[in-house]
Amino acid sequence: MEMQIILQQEVAKRRTFAIISHPDAGKTTLTEKLLLYSGAIHTAGVVKGRKGRKAAASDWMAMEQERGISITSSAMQFTYKDTIINVLDTPGHQDFSEDTYRTLTAADCAIMVIDASKGVERQTRKLFEVCHLRKIPVLTFINKMDMPGRDPIDLMNEVENVLQIHSYAMNWPIGSGQRFLGVVDRLTQECVFFTKTSIGGAQKADIIRYPLASTESKERIGAEEYAKLIEELELLEMAGNAYSHEDFLANQVTPVFFASALTNFGVEPFFDAFIHLAPCPHARMATRTDGSEIEIDPITTPFSGYVFKIQANMDRRHRDSMAFIRICSGRFEKDLIVKNHRMNKEIRLARPHSMLAGERKTVDDAYPGDVIGVINPGSFAIGDTLSITGGFNFKPLPQFQPEIFAKIYPKDVGRRKSFDKGVIQLVEEGAIQLLKPHDGEGEFIYAAVGKLQFEVMQYRLKDEYNVETILTPLPYQCSAWILGDMGKFTKSFSSMLAQDRQGRPMILFIDQWDKQHCIKQNPNHQLVDVLV
Ligand code: G4P
Repeated sequence: MEMQIILQQEVAKRRTFAIISHPDAGKTTLTEKLLLYSGAIHTAGVVKGRKGRKAAASDWMAMEQERGISITSSAMQFTYKDTIINVLDTPGHQDFSEDTYRTLTAADCAIMVIDASKGVERQTRKLFEVCHLRKIPVLTFINKMDMPGRDPIDLMNEVENVLQIHSYAMNWPIGSGQRFLGVVDRLTQECVFFTKTSIGGAQKADIIRYPLASTESKERIGAEEYAKLIEELELLEMAGNAYSHEDFLANQVTPVFFASALTNFGVEPFFDAFIHLAPCPHARMATRTDGSEIEIDPITTPFSGYVFKIQANMDRRHRDSMAFIRICSGRFEKDLIVKNHRMNKEIRLARPHSMLAGERKTVDDAYPGDVIGVINPGSFAIGDTLSITGGFNFKPLPQFQPEIFAKIYPKDVGRRKSFDKGVIQLVEEGAIQLLKPHDGEGEFIYAAVGKLQFEVMQYRLKDEYNVETILTPLPYQCSAWILGDMGKFTKSFSSMLAQDRQGRPMILFIDQWDKQHCIKQNPNHQLVDVLV
Protein backbone atom coordinates (compact mmCIF):
# COMPACT_ATOMS: atom_id res chain seq x y z
CA MET A 1 0.00 0.00 0.00
CA GLU A 2 2.77 2.34 0.96
CA MET A 3 4.47 1.59 -2.35
CA GLN A 4 1.29 2.54 -4.21
CA ILE A 5 1.23 5.91 -2.47
CA ILE A 6 4.88 6.53 -3.38
CA LEU A 7 4.17 5.50 -6.95
CA GLN A 8 1.15 7.76 -7.12
CA GLN A 9 3.21 10.72 -5.96
CA GLU A 10 6.10 9.97 -8.27
CA VAL A 11 3.83 9.51 -11.29
CA ALA A 12 1.93 12.73 -10.55
CA LYS A 13 5.23 14.64 -10.49
CA ARG A 14 6.44 13.48 -13.90
CA ARG A 15 6.11 14.99 -17.37
CA THR A 16 7.68 13.06 -20.23
CA PHE A 17 7.67 14.81 -23.57
CA ALA A 18 9.42 15.34 -26.89
CA ILE A 19 9.92 18.52 -28.87
CA ILE A 20 8.92 18.32 -32.50
CA SER A 21 9.99 20.93 -35.01
CA HIS A 22 11.64 21.64 -38.31
CA PRO A 23 15.39 22.31 -38.12
CA ASP A 24 16.21 25.85 -36.97
CA ALA A 25 12.80 26.55 -35.47
CA GLY A 26 14.40 26.74 -32.02
CA LYS A 27 14.16 23.30 -30.42
CA THR A 28 17.69 23.40 -28.99
CA THR A 29 17.22 26.95 -27.73
CA LEU A 30 13.96 26.07 -26.02
CA THR A 31 15.42 22.93 -24.43
CA GLU A 32 18.30 24.97 -23.18
CA LYS A 33 15.95 27.55 -21.70
CA LEU A 34 14.13 24.80 -19.88
CA LEU A 35 17.47 23.80 -18.36
CA LEU A 36 18.14 27.45 -17.49
CA TYR A 37 14.79 28.00 -15.80
CA SER A 38 15.04 24.70 -13.95
CA GLY A 39 18.40 25.70 -12.57
CA ALA A 40 20.17 22.75 -14.22
CA ILE A 41 22.42 25.25 -16.01
CA HIS A 42 23.13 28.84 -15.01
CA THR A 43 23.87 30.49 -18.31
CA ALA A 44 22.22 29.75 -21.61
CA GLY A 45 24.10 29.68 -24.91
CA VAL A 46 26.51 26.89 -24.16
CA VAL A 47 24.55 23.74 -24.82
CA LYS A 48 24.66 23.58 -28.57
CA GLY A 49 27.20 21.94 -30.80
CA ARG A 50 26.59 24.36 -33.64
CA LYS A 51 29.19 26.76 -34.92
CA GLY A 52 31.99 25.68 -32.67
CA ARG A 53 30.14 26.15 -29.42
CA LYS A 54 30.40 23.66 -26.62
CA ALA A 55 28.83 20.33 -27.56
CA ALA A 56 25.10 19.91 -27.10
CA ALA A 57 24.04 18.10 -24.00
CA SER A 58 22.66 15.28 -26.05
CA ASP A 59 25.38 15.07 -28.66
CA TRP A 60 27.03 11.72 -28.37
CA MET A 61 28.56 10.59 -31.52
CA ALA A 62 31.71 12.08 -32.95
CA MET A 63 29.91 12.65 -36.20
CA GLU A 64 27.25 14.71 -34.56
CA GLN A 65 29.89 16.97 -33.16
CA GLU A 66 31.75 17.22 -36.41
CA ARG A 67 28.62 18.27 -38.18
CA GLY A 68 27.12 20.19 -35.31
CA ILE A 69 23.84 18.36 -35.51
CA SER A 70 22.03 16.06 -33.20
CA ILE A 71 21.48 12.65 -34.73
CA THR A 72 20.74 10.35 -31.86
CA SER A 73 17.79 10.58 -29.53
CA SER A 74 18.40 10.65 -25.84
CA ALA A 75 16.49 11.53 -22.74
CA MET A 76 17.39 14.11 -20.15
CA GLN A 77 15.92 14.38 -16.70
CA PHE A 78 15.78 17.38 -14.41
CA THR A 79 13.43 19.14 -12.04
CA TYR A 80 11.45 22.25 -12.90
CA LYS A 81 9.50 23.76 -9.98
CA ASP A 82 8.97 20.39 -8.22
CA THR A 83 8.03 18.66 -11.46
CA ILE A 84 10.32 15.95 -12.79
CA ILE A 85 10.86 16.59 -16.45
CA ASN A 86 11.95 13.92 -18.90
CA VAL A 87 12.79 15.44 -22.28
CA LEU A 88 13.20 13.00 -25.08
CA ASP A 89 15.56 14.46 -27.62
CA THR A 90 14.23 13.99 -31.12
CA PRO A 91 16.85 14.61 -33.79
CA GLY A 92 16.50 18.02 -35.33
CA HIS A 93 18.26 17.53 -38.62
CA GLN A 94 16.58 17.80 -41.99
CA ASP A 95 17.05 14.12 -42.76
CA PHE A 96 15.75 12.75 -39.55
CA SER A 97 15.42 9.03 -39.12
CA GLU A 98 13.10 6.36 -37.83
CA ASP A 99 14.59 6.86 -34.40
CA THR A 100 12.70 10.11 -34.18
CA TYR A 101 9.39 8.42 -34.77
CA ARG A 102 10.07 5.71 -32.26
CA THR A 103 11.18 8.18 -29.63
CA LEU A 104 7.88 9.98 -29.97
CA THR A 105 6.00 6.86 -28.86
CA ALA A 106 7.85 7.06 -25.56
CA ALA A 107 6.49 10.57 -24.90
CA ASP A 108 3.26 11.37 -23.09
CA CYS A 109 2.97 14.65 -24.94
CA ALA A 110 4.85 16.86 -27.38
CA ILE A 111 5.79 20.49 -27.76
CA MET A 112 5.60 21.63 -31.37
CA VAL A 113 7.97 24.53 -32.02
CA ILE A 114 7.08 26.69 -35.00
CA ASP A 115 9.14 29.54 -36.42
CA ALA A 116 6.79 32.56 -36.58
CA SER A 117 8.19 33.64 -39.92
CA LYS A 118 7.94 30.21 -41.52
CA GLY A 119 4.79 28.57 -40.19
CA VAL A 120 4.23 24.80 -40.31
CA GLU A 121 7.18 23.22 -42.13
CA ARG A 122 7.62 19.78 -43.64
CA GLN A 123 9.34 17.93 -40.83
CA THR A 124 6.97 19.31 -38.24
CA ARG A 125 4.11 17.99 -40.33
CA LYS A 126 5.58 14.50 -40.49
CA LEU A 127 6.26 14.38 -36.79
CA PHE A 128 2.86 15.78 -35.97
CA GLU A 129 1.34 12.95 -37.99
CA VAL A 130 2.87 10.44 -35.58
CA CYS A 131 1.45 12.34 -32.61
CA HIS A 132 -1.91 12.30 -34.31
CA LEU A 133 -1.80 8.58 -35.06
CA ARG A 134 -0.74 7.82 -31.50
CA LYS A 135 -3.11 10.38 -29.93
CA ILE A 136 -0.22 12.20 -28.27
CA PRO A 137 -1.34 15.63 -27.03
CA VAL A 138 0.57 18.54 -28.60
CA LEU A 139 1.26 22.04 -27.25
CA THR A 140 2.26 24.63 -29.84
CA PHE A 141 5.08 27.08 -29.17
CA ILE A 142 5.25 29.81 -31.79
CA ASN A 143 8.82 30.97 -31.55
CA LYS A 144 10.92 33.93 -32.70
CA MET A 145 8.24 36.54 -32.04
CA ASP A 146 11.10 39.00 -31.56
CA MET A 147 11.70 38.84 -35.33
CA PRO A 148 9.46 40.13 -38.09
CA GLY A 149 7.05 37.24 -38.52
CA ARG A 150 3.72 36.31 -39.97
CA ASP A 151 0.39 37.48 -38.66
CA PRO A 152 -0.52 35.46 -35.51
CA ILE A 153 -4.03 34.74 -36.77
CA ASP A 154 -2.57 33.47 -40.04
CA LEU A 155 -0.27 31.16 -38.14
CA MET A 156 -3.14 29.76 -36.07
CA ASN A 157 -5.11 29.14 -39.26
CA GLU A 158 -2.16 27.39 -40.83
CA VAL A 159 -1.83 25.06 -37.86
CA GLU A 160 -5.52 24.22 -38.18
CA ASN A 161 -5.57 23.76 -41.94
CA VAL A 162 -2.30 21.97 -42.48
CA LEU A 163 -2.40 19.75 -39.41
CA GLN A 164 -6.15 19.31 -39.18
CA ILE A 165 -6.32 20.12 -35.49
CA HIS A 166 -8.16 22.89 -33.66
CA SER A 167 -5.96 25.53 -32.10
CA TYR A 168 -6.59 27.59 -29.01
CA ALA A 169 -4.44 30.62 -28.22
CA MET A 170 -3.55 30.49 -24.52
CA ASN A 171 -1.78 33.79 -24.80
CA TRP A 172 -1.63 36.52 -27.40
CA PRO A 173 1.44 38.47 -28.48
CA ILE A 174 1.71 42.15 -27.63
CA GLY A 175 3.41 43.50 -30.74
CA SER A 176 6.03 41.63 -32.70
CA GLY A 177 9.57 41.96 -33.96
CA GLN A 178 11.41 44.81 -32.22
CA ARG A 179 8.12 45.81 -30.60
CA PHE A 180 7.39 42.38 -29.07
CA LEU A 181 6.75 43.47 -25.51
CA GLY A 182 5.11 40.43 -24.02
CA VAL A 183 1.91 38.44 -24.09
CA VAL A 184 -1.65 38.68 -22.85
CA ASP A 185 -2.60 35.74 -20.65
CA ARG A 186 -6.12 35.05 -21.88
CA LEU A 187 -7.15 33.16 -18.78
CA THR A 188 -6.18 35.82 -16.24
CA GLN A 189 -6.66 38.77 -18.65
CA GLU A 190 -3.28 40.09 -17.67
CA CYS A 191 -0.53 41.63 -19.74
CA VAL A 192 2.78 39.94 -19.06
CA PHE A 193 5.64 42.29 -20.01
CA PHE A 194 9.21 41.12 -20.31
CA THR A 195 12.53 42.88 -20.20
CA LYS A 196 15.79 41.56 -21.50
CA THR A 197 18.39 41.10 -18.82
CA SER A 198 21.29 39.95 -20.96
CA ILE A 199 22.38 39.53 -24.56
CA GLY A 200 21.00 36.42 -26.24
CA GLY A 201 18.83 35.55 -23.26
CA ALA A 202 21.70 34.03 -21.31
CA GLN A 203 19.85 34.95 -18.11
CA LYS A 204 16.17 34.81 -17.22
CA ALA A 205 14.00 37.70 -18.44
CA ASP A 206 12.30 39.98 -15.92
CA ILE A 207 8.54 39.82 -15.83
CA ILE A 208 5.98 42.46 -14.83
CA ARG A 209 2.23 41.78 -14.92
CA TYR A 210 -0.57 44.33 -15.17
CA PRO A 211 -4.29 43.75 -15.75
CA LEU A 212 -5.13 44.08 -19.44
CA ALA A 213 -7.54 46.91 -18.69
CA SER A 214 -5.08 48.87 -16.53
CA THR A 215 -3.61 52.25 -17.46
CA GLU A 216 -0.12 50.77 -16.98
CA SER A 217 -0.81 48.27 -19.75
CA LYS A 218 -2.26 50.94 -22.05
CA GLU A 219 0.68 53.24 -21.48
CA ARG A 220 3.31 50.58 -22.02
CA ILE A 221 1.70 49.32 -25.19
CA GLY A 222 0.74 52.70 -26.68
CA ALA A 223 -2.76 53.77 -27.68
CA GLU A 224 -2.71 52.54 -31.27
CA GLU A 225 -1.19 49.13 -30.58
CA TYR A 226 -3.46 48.72 -27.57
CA ALA A 227 -6.58 49.30 -29.65
CA LYS A 228 -5.34 46.77 -32.21
CA LEU A 229 -4.61 44.25 -29.47
CA ILE A 230 -8.10 44.58 -27.98
CA GLU A 231 -9.60 44.12 -31.41
CA GLU A 232 -7.59 40.93 -32.02
CA LEU A 233 -8.54 39.56 -28.63
CA GLU A 234 -12.22 40.23 -29.32
CA LEU A 235 -11.90 38.51 -32.67
CA LEU A 236 -10.40 35.47 -30.97
CA GLU A 237 -13.21 35.34 -28.42
CA MET A 238 -15.79 35.51 -31.17
CA ALA A 239 -14.16 32.95 -33.45
CA GLY A 240 -13.06 30.28 -31.04
CA ASN A 241 -14.59 27.80 -28.65
CA ALA A 242 -13.55 27.50 -25.04
CA TYR A 243 -10.41 25.48 -24.35
CA SER A 244 -11.21 21.85 -23.68
CA HIS A 245 -8.61 19.88 -21.76
CA GLU A 246 -10.20 16.61 -22.81
CA ASP A 247 -9.83 17.56 -26.47
CA PHE A 248 -6.20 18.48 -25.87
CA LEU A 249 -5.51 15.07 -24.31
CA ALA A 250 -7.17 13.39 -27.30
CA ASN A 251 -5.06 15.38 -29.81
CA GLN A 252 -8.14 17.27 -30.99
CA VAL A 253 -7.00 20.73 -30.00
CA THR A 254 -3.57 22.27 -29.48
CA PRO A 255 -3.05 25.10 -27.00
CA VAL A 256 -0.92 27.79 -28.66
CA PHE A 257 1.68 30.02 -26.99
CA PHE A 258 3.54 32.92 -28.59
CA ALA A 259 7.07 33.54 -27.38
CA SER A 260 10.71 34.05 -28.14
CA ALA A 261 12.99 31.34 -26.82
CA LEU A 262 16.13 33.33 -27.56
CA THR A 263 15.18 36.41 -25.54
CA ASN A 264 13.26 34.35 -22.94
CA PHE A 265 10.09 36.35 -23.63
CA GLY A 266 7.11 34.15 -22.81
CA VAL A 267 9.30 31.23 -21.89
CA GLU A 268 8.60 30.98 -18.18
CA PRO A 269 4.80 31.39 -18.48
CA PHE A 270 4.94 28.70 -21.16
CA PHE A 271 6.83 26.27 -18.96
CA ASP A 272 4.45 26.99 -16.08
CA ALA A 273 1.47 26.31 -18.30
CA PHE A 274 3.17 23.25 -19.71
CA ILE A 275 3.60 21.51 -16.36
CA HIS A 276 0.00 22.33 -15.59
CA LEU A 277 -1.43 21.10 -18.91
CA ALA A 278 0.83 18.21 -19.87
CA PRO A 279 -0.41 14.84 -18.67
CA CYS A 280 1.57 12.74 -16.23
CA PRO A 281 2.33 9.15 -17.28
CA HIS A 282 -0.94 7.37 -17.83
CA ALA A 283 -2.24 3.88 -18.57
CA ARG A 284 -1.03 2.32 -21.82
CA MET A 285 -2.82 -0.29 -23.86
CA ALA A 286 -1.17 -3.64 -24.42
CA THR A 287 -2.16 -6.95 -25.99
CA ARG A 288 -2.32 -10.19 -24.05
CA THR A 289 -0.90 -13.35 -25.60
CA ASP A 290 -4.47 -14.42 -26.54
CA GLY A 291 -4.88 -11.16 -28.51
CA SER A 292 -7.23 -9.43 -26.06
CA GLU A 293 -6.46 -5.89 -24.90
CA ILE A 294 -5.30 -4.98 -21.43
CA GLU A 295 -4.74 -1.59 -19.81
CA ILE A 296 -1.39 -1.30 -18.06
CA ASP A 297 -1.90 1.08 -15.17
CA PRO A 298 1.28 2.92 -14.16
CA ILE A 299 0.53 2.52 -10.46
CA THR A 300 -1.13 -0.84 -9.96
CA THR A 301 0.83 -2.90 -12.51
CA PRO A 302 4.26 -4.02 -11.28
CA PHE A 303 7.27 -2.85 -13.30
CA SER A 304 6.85 -2.87 -17.06
CA GLY A 305 8.36 -0.95 -19.95
CA TYR A 306 9.56 -1.29 -23.49
CA VAL A 307 12.73 -0.75 -25.49
CA PHE A 308 12.30 2.19 -27.87
CA LYS A 309 15.90 2.69 -28.86
CA ILE A 310 19.13 0.76 -29.04
CA GLN A 311 22.46 2.33 -29.64
CA ALA A 312 25.89 0.80 -29.82
CA ASN A 313 29.27 2.28 -29.03
CA MET A 314 27.92 5.41 -27.39
CA ASP A 315 30.81 5.69 -25.08
CA ARG A 316 34.18 4.97 -26.64
CA ARG A 317 35.72 3.99 -23.35
CA HIS A 318 33.07 1.33 -22.79
CA ARG A 319 32.35 0.21 -26.37
CA ASP A 320 28.98 -1.00 -25.28
CA SER A 321 25.49 -1.12 -26.64
CA MET A 322 22.69 0.45 -24.67
CA ALA A 323 19.00 -0.25 -24.73
CA PHE A 324 16.74 2.65 -23.76
CA ILE A 325 13.65 1.63 -21.88
CA ARG A 326 10.59 3.76 -21.27
CA ILE A 327 9.09 2.72 -17.97
CA CYS A 328 5.32 2.35 -18.24
CA SER A 329 4.37 0.98 -14.83
CA GLY A 330 5.65 0.18 -11.38
CA ARG A 331 8.89 0.99 -9.68
CA PHE A 332 12.22 0.15 -11.22
CA GLU A 333 15.08 -0.78 -8.95
CA LYS A 334 18.64 -1.49 -9.86
CA ASP A 335 19.29 -5.19 -10.55
CA LEU A 336 15.61 -5.87 -11.07
CA ILE A 337 14.99 -9.19 -12.80
CA VAL A 338 12.44 -8.84 -15.60
CA LYS A 339 10.99 -11.03 -18.30
CA ASN A 340 11.78 -10.24 -21.90
CA HIS A 341 8.53 -11.36 -23.50
CA ARG A 342 9.92 -11.84 -26.98
CA MET A 343 12.71 -14.14 -25.86
CA ASN A 344 10.75 -15.66 -23.01
CA LYS A 345 13.81 -15.12 -20.89
CA GLU A 346 14.59 -13.49 -17.56
CA ILE A 347 17.10 -10.65 -17.59
CA ARG A 348 18.70 -8.71 -14.77
CA LEU A 349 18.67 -4.98 -15.44
CA ALA A 350 22.10 -4.17 -14.12
CA ARG A 351 23.97 -0.85 -14.34
CA PRO A 352 21.00 1.28 -15.32
CA HIS A 353 21.80 4.83 -16.41
CA SER A 354 19.98 8.07 -16.89
CA MET A 355 21.22 11.16 -18.63
CA LEU A 356 21.59 14.75 -17.64
CA ALA A 357 23.34 17.10 -19.98
CA GLY A 358 25.44 14.41 -21.57
CA GLU A 359 26.54 12.91 -18.28
CA ARG A 360 25.62 9.36 -17.56
CA LYS A 361 24.64 8.71 -14.01
CA THR A 362 23.69 5.45 -12.42
CA VAL A 363 20.13 5.24 -11.16
CA ASP A 364 18.99 3.23 -8.18
CA ASP A 365 15.31 3.61 -8.82
CA ALA A 366 13.05 5.02 -11.49
CA TYR A 367 9.34 5.45 -12.08
CA PRO A 368 6.77 5.46 -14.89
CA GLY A 369 7.64 8.12 -17.45
CA ASP A 370 11.37 7.77 -16.85
CA VAL A 371 13.80 6.50 -19.43
CA ILE A 372 16.65 4.28 -18.35
CA GLY A 373 19.52 3.09 -20.43
CA VAL A 374 20.80 -0.39 -19.67
CA ILE A 375 23.77 -2.23 -21.08
CA ASN A 376 22.56 -4.52 -23.84
CA PRO A 377 24.54 -7.73 -24.16
CA GLY A 378 22.36 -8.75 -27.11
CA SER A 379 19.29 -9.37 -24.97
CA PHE A 380 17.10 -6.60 -26.32
CA ALA A 381 15.60 -5.63 -29.64
CA ILE A 382 13.65 -2.50 -30.47
CA GLY A 383 10.06 -2.81 -29.35
CA ASP A 384 10.70 -5.50 -26.71
CA THR A 385 8.26 -5.47 -23.81
CA LEU A 386 9.83 -6.11 -20.40
CA SER A 387 7.89 -6.76 -17.23
CA ILE A 388 7.73 -8.60 -13.95
CA THR A 389 4.49 -10.41 -14.64
CA GLY A 390 4.78 -11.17 -18.37
CA GLY A 391 1.79 -12.13 -20.49
CA PHE A 392 1.34 -8.95 -22.56
CA ASN A 393 3.03 -6.78 -25.17
CA PHE A 394 2.89 -3.04 -25.66
CA LYS A 395 1.70 -1.75 -29.00
CA PRO A 396 4.35 -2.34 -31.68
CA LEU A 397 6.41 0.71 -32.64
CA PRO A 398 5.28 2.42 -35.82
CA GLN A 399 7.15 1.72 -39.01
CA PHE A 400 7.23 4.19 -41.86
CA GLN A 401 7.68 3.54 -45.56
CA PRO A 402 11.32 3.93 -46.48
CA GLU A 403 11.96 6.65 -49.04
CA ILE A 404 15.56 6.00 -50.03
CA PHE A 405 17.19 2.80 -51.11
CA ALA A 406 20.69 1.67 -51.90
CA LYS A 407 23.06 -1.23 -52.26
CA ILE A 408 26.05 -1.08 -49.98
CA TYR A 409 29.27 -3.10 -50.19
CA PRO A 410 32.55 -3.20 -48.28
CA LYS A 411 35.31 -1.57 -50.36
CA ASP A 412 37.71 -4.27 -49.34
CA VAL A 413 36.16 -7.74 -49.69
CA GLY A 414 38.48 -8.96 -46.96
CA ARG A 415 36.44 -6.85 -44.50
CA ARG A 416 33.21 -8.68 -45.34
CA LYS A 417 32.93 -10.32 -41.93
CA SER A 418 33.22 -7.02 -40.04
CA PHE A 419 30.84 -5.44 -42.53
CA ASP A 420 28.22 -8.13 -41.87
CA LYS A 421 28.68 -7.77 -38.12
CA GLY A 422 28.25 -4.00 -38.30
CA VAL A 423 25.23 -4.26 -40.57
CA ILE A 424 23.51 -6.71 -38.23
CA GLN A 425 24.12 -4.38 -35.31
CA LEU A 426 22.79 -1.35 -37.19
CA VAL A 427 19.73 -3.23 -38.40
CA GLU A 428 19.02 -4.43 -34.89
CA GLU A 429 19.34 -0.91 -33.58
CA GLY A 430 16.77 0.03 -36.20
CA ALA A 431 19.25 2.50 -37.69
CA ILE A 432 18.62 1.07 -41.14
CA GLN A 433 16.17 -1.34 -42.78
CA LEU A 434 17.17 -4.41 -44.70
CA LEU A 435 14.95 -5.61 -47.56
CA LYS A 436 15.17 -8.67 -49.76
CA PRO A 437 13.94 -8.99 -53.33
CA HIS A 438 10.47 -10.51 -53.25
CA ASP A 439 11.53 -13.91 -54.57
CA GLY A 440 14.19 -14.09 -51.87
CA GLU A 441 16.94 -14.24 -54.52
CA GLY A 442 19.57 -11.58 -55.06
CA GLU A 443 21.31 -8.97 -52.98
CA PHE A 444 19.96 -7.14 -49.97
CA ILE A 445 18.55 -3.68 -50.39
CA TYR A 446 19.27 -1.11 -47.70
CA ALA A 447 16.38 1.22 -47.00
CA ALA A 448 15.92 4.32 -44.88
CA VAL A 449 13.41 7.02 -44.11
CA GLY A 450 15.98 9.83 -44.16
CA LYS A 451 19.13 10.25 -46.22
CA LEU A 452 21.20 10.89 -43.14
CA GLN A 453 20.58 7.31 -42.01
CA PHE A 454 22.85 6.11 -44.84
CA GLU A 455 25.52 8.63 -43.99
CA VAL A 456 25.37 7.58 -40.36
CA MET A 457 25.55 3.93 -41.39
CA GLN A 458 28.63 4.48 -43.56
CA TYR A 459 30.26 6.62 -40.93
CA ARG A 460 29.64 4.12 -38.18
CA LEU A 461 30.81 1.16 -40.22
CA LYS A 462 34.05 2.98 -40.79
CA ASP A 463 34.38 4.41 -37.32
CA GLU A 464 33.27 1.44 -35.25
CA TYR A 465 33.98 -1.56 -37.50
CA ASN A 466 36.80 -0.17 -39.59
CA VAL A 467 35.01 -0.92 -42.86
CA GLU A 468 34.99 1.52 -45.75
CA THR A 469 31.90 1.10 -47.89
CA ILE A 470 30.65 1.86 -51.38
CA LEU A 471 27.06 2.97 -51.73
CA THR A 472 25.12 2.64 -54.96
CA PRO A 473 21.82 4.52 -54.79
CA LEU A 474 18.73 2.83 -56.20
CA PRO A 475 16.23 4.94 -58.14
CA TYR A 476 13.20 4.38 -55.86
CA GLN A 477 11.66 7.31 -53.99
CA CYS A 478 8.78 5.85 -52.05
CA SER A 479 7.33 2.50 -51.06
CA ALA A 480 4.47 0.72 -49.33
CA TRP A 481 3.59 -2.52 -47.62
CA ILE A 482 1.10 -4.60 -49.58
CA LEU A 483 -1.91 -6.16 -47.88
CA GLY A 484 -3.85 -8.67 -49.98
CA ASP A 485 -3.41 -11.66 -52.23
CA MET A 486 0.04 -11.35 -53.81
CA GLY A 487 -0.98 -13.78 -56.55
CA LYS A 488 -3.42 -11.17 -57.85
CA PHE A 489 -1.18 -8.13 -57.48
CA THR A 490 -0.09 -6.28 -60.59
CA LYS A 491 2.88 -3.96 -60.71
CA SER A 492 4.36 -1.54 -63.19
CA PHE A 493 7.58 -2.33 -65.00
CA SER A 494 9.54 0.32 -63.11
CA SER A 495 8.51 -0.68 -59.59
CA MET A 496 10.11 -3.46 -57.59
CA LEU A 497 8.67 -6.06 -55.25
CA ALA A 498 10.55 -6.75 -52.05
CA GLN A 499 10.02 -8.10 -48.57
CA ASP A 500 11.02 -6.69 -45.21
CA ARG A 501 12.85 -8.57 -42.47
CA GLN A 502 9.60 -10.04 -41.20
CA GLY A 503 8.84 -11.32 -44.71
CA ARG A 504 6.05 -8.80 -45.32
CA PRO A 505 5.62 -7.93 -48.99
CA MET A 506 6.59 -4.41 -50.03
CA ILE A 507 6.75 -2.49 -53.24
CA LEU A 508 9.26 0.20 -54.17
CA PHE A 509 8.31 2.97 -56.60
CA ILE A 510 10.38 5.33 -58.68
CA ASP A 511 8.01 8.20 -57.92
CA GLN A 512 4.64 9.15 -56.40
CA TRP A 513 2.98 8.98 -59.77
CA ASP A 514 3.99 5.34 -60.13
CA LYS A 515 2.62 4.68 -56.66
CA GLN A 516 -0.72 6.35 -57.32
CA HIS A 517 -1.04 4.43 -60.55
CA CYS A 518 -0.35 1.15 -58.75
CA ILE A 519 -2.97 1.95 -56.09
CA LYS A 520 -5.54 2.46 -58.86
CA GLN A 521 -4.50 -0.76 -60.61
CA ASN A 522 -4.97 -2.84 -57.47
CA PRO A 523 -8.30 -1.83 -55.95
CA ASN A 524 -8.49 -5.07 -53.97
CA HIS A 525 -5.17 -4.53 -52.24
CA GLN A 526 -4.23 -2.07 -49.57
CA LEU A 527 -0.97 -0.16 -49.93
CA VAL A 528 0.13 0.94 -46.48
CA ASP A 529 2.57 3.80 -45.73
CA VAL A 530 2.75 3.43 -41.97
CA LEU A 531 2.47 0.33 -39.84
CA VAL A 532 1.28 1.72 -36.50
P1 G4P B 1 16.85 23.82 -33.77
O1 G4P B 1 17.40 23.16 -32.56
O2 G4P B 1 15.36 23.73 -33.86
O3 G4P B 1 17.51 23.45 -35.06
O4 G4P B 1 17.09 25.39 -33.64
P2 G4P B 1 18.06 26.22 -32.70
O5 G4P B 1 17.53 26.28 -31.33
O6 G4P B 1 19.45 25.77 -32.90
O7 G4P B 1 17.86 27.66 -33.33
C1 G4P B 1 18.15 27.94 -34.68
C2 G4P B 1 18.56 29.40 -34.82
O8 G4P B 1 17.46 30.22 -34.44
C3 G4P B 1 19.72 29.79 -33.94
O9 G4P B 1 20.42 30.81 -34.59
C4 G4P B 1 19.02 30.39 -32.72
O10 G4P B 1 19.82 31.29 -32.01
C5 G4P B 1 17.85 31.09 -33.40
N1 G4P B 1 16.69 31.26 -32.49
C6 G4P B 1 16.10 30.37 -31.68
N2 G4P B 1 15.07 30.92 -31.02
C7 G4P B 1 15.01 32.21 -31.43
C8 G4P B 1 14.17 33.31 -31.09
O11 G4P B 1 13.26 33.22 -30.28
N3 G4P B 1 14.43 34.49 -31.73
C9 G4P B 1 15.45 34.63 -32.63
N4 G4P B 1 15.61 35.83 -33.18
N5 G4P B 1 16.26 33.63 -32.96
C10 G4P B 1 16.05 32.43 -32.36
P3 G4P B 1 21.71 30.56 -35.47
O12 G4P B 1 22.12 31.87 -36.01
O13 G4P B 1 21.46 29.46 -36.45
O14 G4P B 1 22.73 29.97 -34.49
P4 G4P B 1 23.50 30.72 -33.33
O15 G4P B 1 24.74 31.17 -33.95
O16 G4P B 1 22.62 31.83 -32.86
O17 G4P B 1 23.66 29.65 -32.35
